[in-house]
Amino acid sequence: MSDIGAIQTRLVNDIAAASDLDAVEALRVAALGKAGSITALLKSLGGMTPEDRQAQGPQIHALREAVTAALAERKAALDAAALDIKLAAEAIDMSLPADTAPKGSVHPVSQVMDELAEIFADMGFAVATGPEIEDDWHNFTALNMDETHPARAMHDTFYFPDRTPASSSAAVGQQQREILLRTHTSPVQIRSMLDQGAPIRIIAPGRVYRSDSDATHTPMFHQVEGLVIDKDIHLGHLKWTLETFFKAFFEREDITLRLRPSYFPFTEPSVEVDVGYSTEGGRRVVGGHGDAPGHAWMELGGSGMVNARVLEFAGLDPAEWQGFAFGLGIDRIAMLKYGMNDLRAFFDGDPRWLAHYGFSPFDQPTLSAGVGAKA
Ligand code: DAH
Repeated sequence: MSDIGAIQTRLVNDIAAASDLDAVEALRVAALGKAGSITALLKSLGGMTPEDRQAQGPQIHALREAVTAALAERKAALDAAALDIKLAAEAIDMSLPADTAPKGSVHPVSQVMDELAEIFADMGFAVATGPEIEDDWHNFTALNMDETHPARAMHDTFYFPDRTPASSSAAVGQQQREILLRTHTSPVQIRSMLDQGAPIRIIAPGRVYRSDSDATHTPMFHQVEGLVIDKDIHLGHLKWTLETFFKAFFEREDITLRLRPSYFPFTEPSVEVDVGYSTEGGRRVVGGHGDAPGHAWMELGGSGMVNARVLEFAGLDPAEWQGFAFGLGIDRIAMLKYGMNDLRAFFDGDPRWLAHYGFSPFDQPTLSAGVGAKA
């Protein structure tokens, strides 16, 4: 049947011209469906003589294959075109500015604690911690503050209503203990000595609590305690340590410290540590000698040689061991370093304040890159 060539040409042309997938499907059904033209030709093979079948069979099968291939090709082309249209419609404009998610920042107190730890680590100090919910033995008694010490009064210290039960292990060998919010980081001295013995070289930064609230006092604030216990330690070591720390912390060489005789129950002798400063544009700037013109002294913390009674409470023999301790207000040195003037703003939780004074989480203080380097 010479017509078969003509049928194939027409069908293949029609298929190539089909404008959409529905048209392709209609052509498929018309040719290869149950009642399709090629299906009919295939069926007609059954009624032919063997000679006719041998002559026409291959042509009809070739026709079916050519049409099947043409259908598949056209369908693939139309599918690809449809995908192109869809992709073009869904294209992402890479040049559009992205929405910025709100970004947190590191609170200056946290940043300063990191800086402290970095600087003291370089001097061989480890960071020690203790509980903020303390008992009066660690907070007062072992620090040589006896029952009558004024700091123990209710109006200075936050007490919990419950005492430790007399049967608890903490109370064994002791009378019942009052439970309170620690009023200073000094109890960490006691805990460190009891836990690890001597020699010892630690700092203990953390939160402390006092029943106090006005422009320069908040009921919660931050201190860092320092403790060095060894043999032959004297006040000269203390002065060098604090001076070296403050030079690194304030990032200037002209730091002058003054040790002023004072009294703390847990040190003997006791000194208060003052630093020379000047006032520039209404702001205190640390540096220089406090007695120089335009300068004055500002107290930064307390310190002294650990009282022998404290060593005994903490299980160390004062004939063998001695050392120094110090306590500094972290909030105050943060304010000085970063030029903030209101302590209360530290704890208001105002995101605008934090956005202004906060630090990037990626701004890790290191001694080599500058402890306060701002990106
Ligand atoms: N614990 C004292 C306070 O809060 C500060 C202090 C003074 C700590 C002298 C010390 C020290 O370690 O030696 O106010």
